[in-house]
Amino acid sequence: MDDQDLRVGAPAAPGTVTVVIPTFNEAGNIRELLARLGASLPGRLTGCEVVFVDDSTDDTPAIAEAVARDCPFPVTVIHRDTPVGGLGGAVVEGLKAARAEWVVVMDGDLQHPPSLVPELVEAGTRKGADLVVASRYTGGGSRMGLAGAYRVAVSRGATWLTKGLFPQALRGISDPMSGFFAIRRDAVRDQRDSGALRPLGYKILLELAVRCSPRSVTEVPFVFQNRYAGDSKSTAREGMRFLAHLVALRTASPVARTLVFGLIGLTGFVPNLAALAVLTALGVHYVPAEIVANQFGVLWNFLLIESLLFRDRRRHRHWADRAGRFALLANADLLLRIPLIAVFVGRLDVDVLTATALALLVTFVLRFAGTEMLVYLPRRSSRGRTTIEEA
Ligand code: GDD
Ligand code: MN
Repeated sequence: MDDQDLRVGAPAAPGTVTVVIPTFNEAGNIRELLARLGASLPGRLTGCEVVFVDDSTDDTPAIAEAVARDCPFPVTVIHRDTPVGGLGGAVVEGLKAARAEWVVVMDGDLQHPPSLVPELVEAGTRKGADLVVASRYTGGGSRMGLAGAYRVAVSRGATWLTKGLFPQALRGISDPMSGFFAIRRDAVRDQRDSGALRPLGYKILLELAVRCSPRSVTEVPFVFQNRYAGDSKSTAREGMRFLAHLVALRTASPVARTLVFGLIGLTGFVPNLAALAVLTALGVHYVPAEIVANQFGVLWNFLLIESLLFRDRRRHRHWADRAGRFALLANADLLLRIPLIAVFVGRLDVDVLTATALALLVTFVLRFAGTEMLVYLPRRSSRGRTTIEEA
């Protein structure tokens, strides 16, 4: 790429591409990957560069730097000592370093054919789209390289679930799980700079499609290849991170967050009642049994709320501090309910059932507001740093 086009603040030259490649121990793939990119990019694009964002513990970055010297385009290797945000966090780092008009994100194991990179950009330019997804699920695409019936089923199920949760944002995207896509850098600039991107693990396309709402989207079919060398880095833990990511995206609005808070609260009745049954069966008097059983419900709610709802706001306080405050609020809720019911019944002449329902509602809203403000209130950093949660 001509350095004239790459000055900070200068508008990126049309048709230029930054290929962002996240890598984690891909030593066996780098040489072949850069060779194939070298064979397909320079002839068809006006300018290109490659940015590796590497979290490896092997010699991947050293190999990349060595091979880069013979490449027909600039190659940057960013090595991170702490892999904040995993694969998704690495891609956000790559977006920050990118200088071209388009950013193409692809895996470093050759499951994504490098020859398709120019096609993605051409399709975007031709159709005036902000986002071009390389899809395994559109005419001519295939998931050939997805190993085993189990992974195919998981991938399909996750796709349906995700599309069901975000019908609007994912309209026109048949493969929201794809890790191969092209996006106009302009379409992500604001989010990237304000730190609004908080990817968690693998699903960076989902994050971008939901948070950046690209103006228009198009797809190009592709055949998901077998890995060239090494093994997949995806684990069962990645599945949990994916679910947490879905909840985080879906609960960005206060209304949705309140709803999920309430649903989690409802599930807390199960451990609460179970503990109560055990304790009374053991002969404990029902009053202390109620109090102790309530703590089981509180603990259950705390764990779910921590891992699902306020996952990206945990760092503001020590976990023991959060647990203490949470327990205090939850028990205060219990104490407040009785006098509230008394006021409703005695002063306002409401019948007992309605009064109880009202009291439940009032204490629920107070507890939600209290939890947001007293336990998880984000302390804004004065420098407006990006906050990507490490998970
Ligand atoms: N920097 C960095 N940090 N890179 C990572 C990390 C990390 O923590 N974890 C994985 N990577 C890199 C890998 O080195 C590889 O280049 C790429 O991200 C994809 O990782 P794989 O482990 O090969 O993922 P996969 O093949 O199971 O999943 C791919 O296909 C899925 C579709 O089935 C990814 O593209 C997924 O995003 C995609 O959903
Ligand atoms: Mn892979």
